[in-house]
Amino acid sequence: MNDDQAEFESDVRPGELSVPLPAHVDAGLYFIGTIHTPWHSRGDCPKRGSPDGPICTIEVDERWRAALTDVDGHRRLQVLYWMHRARRDIVLQTPRRTGQTTGSFALRSPVRPNPIASSVVDLVAIEGTVLHVRGLDCLDGTPLIDLKPERDASC
Ligand SMILES: C[S@@+](CC[C@H](N)C(=O)[O-])C[C@H]1O[C@@H](n2cnc3c(N)ncnc32)[C@H](O)[C@@H]1O
Repeated sequence: MNDDQAEFESDVRPGELSVPLPAHVDAGLYFIGTIHTPWHSRGDCPKRGSPDGPICTIEVDERWRAALTDVDGHRRLQVLYWMHRARRDIVLQTPRRTGQTTGSFALRSPVRPNPIASSVVDLVAIEGTVLHVRGLDCLDGTPLIDLKPERDASC
């Protein structure tokens, strides 16, 4: 059992339900970079990013450098990331905050079959393939899966 699995075991709360995961995955994805934040445990992370939060960095892999062309023309970006330390088999969850058992698709919890998270961030600066942003809520080392301009006056 690795550290994450040990953490998962103790994570199950009253009312929660896990299901067996499918035997096969239906599609693959490419992690396109890595997100760096000040947070090293889930308990330390904010539940939701804030424009007043710390500046975090998004390191896009060199391969995708050309895809960053004109990104600097946008003030706000949607960041999609992979909650790599979340379990994927829980369908009913009991968040500590509410104590109420709820379906995973009615929550923004990282625990879901495909642990995809999104945040709209303020773009502070770009240096080469490194973006400096405010508004994230993920662990240091979280894999990046996509960047898109948020619809705003500059789109
Ligand atoms: C409630 S989720 C919201 C994520 C995103 N803003 C969204 O709405 O899709 C944020 C929480 O996920 C947890 N988390 C952050 N990074 C994670 C990671 N890489 N793996 C697993 N859980 C993570 C932390 O507990 C954090 O407070």
